[in-house]
Amino acid sequence: MSKPSVLVARKTFDDIVDRLRPHFEVEANDSDTGWSQDELIRRLQGKAGAYIAGGDRIDAKLLDACPELKAVCTMAVGYNNIDVAACTARGVVVTNAPDVLTETTADFGFALMMATARRITESEHFLRRGEWKQWSVTMFAGADVHGATLGVLGMGRIGAAIARRGHLGFGMPVLYHNRSRLPADQEAPLGAQWVEKDELLRRADHLIIVVPYSASSHHLIGQRELRLMKKTATLTNIARGGVVDDAALAAELKVGTIAAAGLDVFEGEPTVHPDLLACENVVLTPHIASATIATRRAMSNLAVDNLIAALTGGAPTTALNPEVLRK
Ligand code: DGY
Repeated sequence: MSKPSVLVARKTFDDIVDRLRPHFEVEANDSDTGWSQDELIRRLQGKAGAYIAGGDRIDAKLLDACPELKAVCTMAVGYNNIDVAACTARGVVVTNAPDVLTETTADFGFALMMATARRITESEHFLRRGEWKQWSVTMFAGADVHGATLGVLGMGRIGAAIARRGHLGFGMPVLYHNRSRLPADQEAPLGAQWVEKDELLRRADHLIIVVPYSASSHHLIGQRELRLMKKTATLTNIARGGVVDDAALAAELKVGTIAAAGLDVFEGEPTVHPDLLACENVVLTPHIASATIATRRAMSNLAVDNLIAALTGGAPTTALNPEVLRK
């Protein structure tokens, strides 16, 4: 019997792609350039499974054009690029890659927040431009992180890992807002207190955004919200572009509504709003919060494990619509 075929739509580690070969005929993208949706549809013809990443859009149009598709496995934890309901309606199992990136992403979120508060990249650019001529008492004086109030918007696994770092490592009082409040026995080890969103914005010294992107979190932070924050506050976004209104943020950073921002994700990335590029008081990184070799390997391995399980009668460990498997 011939083996089913799968598509690896995003370049990943060769040895991890090789794990698919005993089970499937494999077509793999060996370049770092993602495919357009039309190209994806063309290449998915006759394929039973797809290994994808964050930028690959899986929607009803693609599913209808690829009727043999049975499994879509993303190596990302975020899955706002996948219409899970449309997949479920067509019996296509969807998996993502949670847990394996939690601590790495929390490390990065904390680092970005610290770089923002302590003006690390801004001062480095100044030094590299040859402008450092003398020491001064207020030169690049930023805001303390230790002991300051940490605000976490979105208290999922990554939010909790950041809160733990702030509470245990830096003595920070932790405030958070989330649709649902954590049980008291989960709040206590994080030193975390639930507050309304506007109160979080008013009281946080360093706000970090970790909510998933959806229609309801689109522009969750815009001009109104930024104007509630302290003038000395920082904002760090490691969630998804679109959760923050980048144009409004650039405008408010320019007039000093808040002190600084750290951004790893952008609306319309990899394009970055030109007004953000022009701001000195913003640290910009290219969506790398989960990017360590060990973690990117773990994410890729989990997607491959899921693809193998989904198409060989097993149970993918992180299915988003497990009901499809029970049919
Ligand atoms: C994720 O896993 O969602 C990260 O943002 C990488 O895409």
